[in-house]
Amino acid sequence: MEAHDQFDFLFKIVILGDAGVGKSSLLLRYADELFNPVYINTIGVDFRIRTLLVEDKLIKLQIGITVRVLTFQWDTAGQERFRNITASFYRGSHGIILTFDLSNKESFLRLDKWLAELERNVGHNVIRVMVGTKSDLVSRREVSYTLARAYSEKMKLAYAETSAKLNLNVDELFLYMAKEILTKVKLGLIDTNDKKISEETQTVSVVNTETEKPRKKSCC
Ligand code: GTP
Ligand code: MG
Repeated sequence: MEAHDQFDFLFKIVILGDAGVGKSSLLLRYADELFNPVYINTIGVDFRIRTLLVEDKLIKLQIGITVRVLTFQWDTAGQERFRNITASFYRGSHGIILTFDLSNKESFLRLDKWLAELERNVGHNVIRVMVGTKSDLVSRREVSYTLARAYSEKMKLAYAETSAKLNLNVDELFLYMAKEILTKVKLGLIDTNDKKISEETQTVSVVNTETEKPRKKSCC
């Protein structure tokens, strides 16, 4: 058995949100400890793996991004194809990170649409966190903490603000997700059929740049 096969649970997390809000940057920061100021939009599906220790359990997080789904719009022939990809990408997910850009109010206003998309595709036990990105852009901020927080409470979502650039709240976000999912798994509310999920995701990957970065991290 290879080292990266040794884990207790595999949790699948999906990052959603409008184009350019910083989904890839969040993933790159968490998985590779990098930040790239140059915007390269992701086409298709991308994911990374990182392993961490939570309550004595070695948890492998498979974190994926899906893009060009709502932004692809309704009127093209490609819609059906992208919808199918999205549906299989969501399947088996344990956690959803719903992102918007704190310096772009439009991306915040579109959370309604993303939540409707989620309603159609994921079950109620899936952990959902709403995340305001780019918290370092203080002077360009268009969405106040109070407004975002009120919306998240209305939608019954946890809320966090992150900066991939300054590495603020990023580790905490994924640790929170892992802990919440683990709690649900222990209560028997979520299934973790690990190997199967991994294979499923690979079949829908258009861009597959999985990297393996095992790392032990104590909780809290
Ligand atoms: P798509 O793949 O097109 O959906 O975009 P995305 O959501 O993956 O956005 P991406 O991570 O590529 O980031 C878009 C731009 O925002 C890039 O120029 C990033 O450098 C920048 N960006 C992302 N996160 C942050 C952040 O925390 N702070 C600042 N200042 N810029 C950020
Ligand atoms: Mg991207």
